[in-house]
Amino acid sequence: MTSMPQPLDRRDLDPIEIASRDEIEALQLQRLKWSLHHAYANVPYYKAAFDAAGVHPDDVKDLSDLARFPLTTKADLRANYPFGMFAVPREEVVRVHASSGTTGKPTVVGYTRKDIDLWADLMARSTRAAGGRPGDVVHVSYGYGLFTGGLGAHYGAERLGCTVVPVSGGMTERQVQLIEDFGATIIMVTPSYMLAIADEYKRQGLDSRKSPLRVGMHGAEPWTEAMRVEIEEAFDMDALDLYGLSEVIGPGVACECIETKDGLHLWEDHFYPEVVDPETGAVLRDGEMGELVFTSLTKEAFPVIRYRTRDLTRLLPGTARSMRRIEKVTGRSDDMLIVRGVNVFPSQIEEQILRDARLSPHYVLELSRDGRLDVLTVVVEPRPGRPLGGDASEAVAASLAEHVKAFAGVHVEVRLVPEGGIARSMGKAKRIVDLRDAG
Ligand code: DLL
Repeated sequence: MTSMPQPLDRRDLDPIEIASRDEIEALQLQRLKWSLHHAYANVPYYKAAFDAAGVHPDDVKDLSDLARFPLTTKADLRANYPFGMFAVPREEVVRVHASSGTTGKPTVVGYTRKDIDLWADLMARSTRAAGGRPGDVVHVSYGYGLFTGGLGAHYGAERLGCTVVPVSGGMTERQVQLIEDFGATIIMVTPSYMLAIADEYKRQGLDSRKSPLRVGMHGAEPWTEAMRVEIEEAFDMDALDLYGLSEVIGPGVACECIETKDGLHLWEDHFYPEVVDPETGAVLRDGEMGELVFTSLTKEAFPVIRYRTRDLTRLLPGTARSMRRIEKVTGRSDDMLIVRGVNVFPSQIEEQILRDARLSPHYVLELSRDGRLDVLTVVVEPRPGRPLGGDASEAVAASLAEHVKAFAGVHVEVRLVPEGGIARSMGKAKRIVDLRDAG
């Protein structure tokens, strides 16, 4: 059942979550100085980059001085593959994770024992913010392995004192069985895979609204408010947004809280956020939309200084906690499609699909070429139990194309495929299929 906003029991929080802004900023400044010195002294890449920019960690007197330091990109991390960005001897790294890019080598990240501990603390803090409590049964469907999702979620829930069921992704039939048999109250899973689990409930003739689940913590990929409604209705539970990235630590960089469900509280006592203009790199004011950039404040093995996430969002003031929030990340600058000169994000199309009760949330966007022109085709399944055909299909397709044109400003073709025609993701959904260079 979706719960009414719950009064916040402040005794449940880390004191820093509700400290004054002055206290938070004083702590950030002290930690920022440490982190810049740590990176400069121990990572040749940062020393060279700071020297080239003519800046030194001793120059920092105020948080705003960070803006003078160079930005770091994924390409910089890759150029130092595999362990060149580590700031401690390899022997002190107790774990590595890696994120696979679309091209070339993965980005490798490392953790000292203290970093792993911090990560568990922050995922525990996130889980508690999402409404988790000691004693909850937490079903983890994020993938275990080099991806940070599974193990990150796992250690956090354990740290909070939950009973963790480490299922990982895949074998959807068994996911349903375990949720039901073990009485899972919290599920941690990508939003797209949550929908595949919902379908599996139906396939087994079970009512997903009667599942024991109370809270879902969903992230690792963009998802819209419309998708939240879809998931909450399917499971009669609260679906909360969980954000993170391997380079910064993994899941648990920011999380929505169940009291207000109004964007994600950033754990700024450990990660200093900036939002910059994606073109110029200039720091924007809070409230302005741009690219999220992080500086780690306490991490030992893999400090990041002004790391460009490519994620687009804005910084908002705190609400239920004093730490600032980010607005839901609905797109990455590198996910933006430019179709005949119009910029469009997959999430804008997802919103239009979910407005139509005749369509399911399972879709991909296909890019192809017709002569010199790019063609964007939305391939989508009808709702189960609403098989479409002939005129009805045409009407649905025309109506979706019209809405996408009106709200996203782009012309799309629409192709309806039978139920099951879109491959289900077990983790992060692949929304874009680019056929333009396919021959
Ligand atoms: O996806 C970490 C994670 C695992 C987060 C489980 C949440 C839950 P990476 O594989 O390095 O790490 O991918 C990070 O995924 O830069 C965003 O583009 C995207 N992403 C992560 N969480 C969200 C979210 C994990 N809640 C990249 N909303 C990030 C939108 C998200 N995008």
